[in-house]
Amino acid sequence: MQTVKVGLLGLGTVGGGTVDILTNTLPEIERRLGQKIEITIIAVRDLTRSRPVDTSGIILTDKPEEVVNHPDVDIVVELMGGTGLAKTLLETAIKNGKHIVTANKALIAEHGNALFSLAKEHNVIVNYEAAVAGGIPVIKAVREGLAANKIEWVAGIINGTGNYILTEMKKPGADFAKVLKVAQELGYAEADPTFDVEGIDAAHKLTILASIAFGIELQFNKVYTEGISKVTADDIRFAQQLGYEIKHLGVASRAENGYSLRVHPTLVPKDVLIANVNGVMNAVMAKGNHVGPTMYYGPGAGAGPTASSVVADIIDIIRWKNQPVADQVPALGFAADQLESAPV
Ligand code: NDP
Ligand code: HSE
Repeated sequence: MQTVKVGLLGLGTVGGGTVDILTNTLPEIERRLGQKIEITIIAVRDLTRSRPVDTSGIILTDKPEEVVNHPDVDIVVELMGGTGLAKTLLETAIKNGKHIVTANKALIAEHGNALFSLAKEHNVIVNYEAAVAGGIPVIKAVREGLAANKIEWVAGIINGTGNYILTEMKKPGADFAKVLKVAQELGYAEADPTFDVEGIDAAHKLTILASIAFGIELQFNKVYTEGISKVTADDIRFAQQLGYEIKHLGVASRAENGYSLRVHPTLVPKDVLIANVNGVMNAVMAKGNHVGPTMYYGPGAGAGPTASSVVADIIDIIRWKNQPVADQVPALGFAADQLESAPV
């Protein structure tokens, strides 16, 4: 059996989950593939920190460039976050011919256009399933599963931390700051949690969803963005008395002269399915002109669910990596020269 070698950037919540899966479920995964997977090297910031996963036999380094330049590494998995160093490292990895998996929605939403085009030039794959809705395979569902449709709109709850906070705040006496702290401890929140509570993370994800739904370039800076930080327990209670739940939604739809992309708290009638999506769970709806409305539900954050998507992306790359990029699914699902830069 051939062995595929993987290098990780980051061993935090999602990196730890990824090592856990590639340790404990490895035999099953290797049976699916008929190939072996080895984690060769992992970059962390602090080498002295104790890790909850077994890293014996893996090189640990605090020099992330060693991962992207490692001659044996076939696939670089970026799980460190941020749009500065992570971008530079992935550019180097791509130029070195490494395939990429990332969970970094900020990076894809803000720099995906350039990264995908660099990847095409170097005949490497960039997979990012974990970047939207954690454990729900929604990129595949919309990009590949609905490929026969003209998609009319996509909408949903796409930030687990925000939905967890709104759910917990329904309990008497709940305090926003304390609930956010618990979400951080559970590994749901971004390194900077204002990304969660001010809607920025949801705007990143909506940017990606809109691109794969409509075949438009990634245009994060055009998204109307409002978070949940001003929603109070009283707002939630009064909404409930009137028959509504307050949900933080991302909505992308076709508009008269382009597209409308917005994230904001929304009053949703209690008897609508999405009003009953609680805690860290996410739900994404997409309406295709042939299939009609569809909905995808599951955990939107956390180690196991997110790493599940990361490892599925690794498996896809191992299956596809010997095909020319031209024969694969384009990163945004539409042929690169067919993307519209339509007004948002
Ligand atoms: P964490 O903060 O838990 O982990 C980040 C990891 O990156 C840590 O291991 C850290 O090292 C390492 N790191 C950071 N900076 C450097 C650096 N300069 N050099 C070397 N290593 C570095 O983040 P998460 O695992 O939560 O998130 C990772 C990515 O996944 C982010 O892009 C996030 O948006 C995305 N994501 C997260 C989800 C979640 O539920 N948490 C869900 C979906 C996506 P050290 O451990 O030493 O500090
Ligand atoms: N902070 C993000 C969330 C992680 O809560 O949804 C998953 O993308």
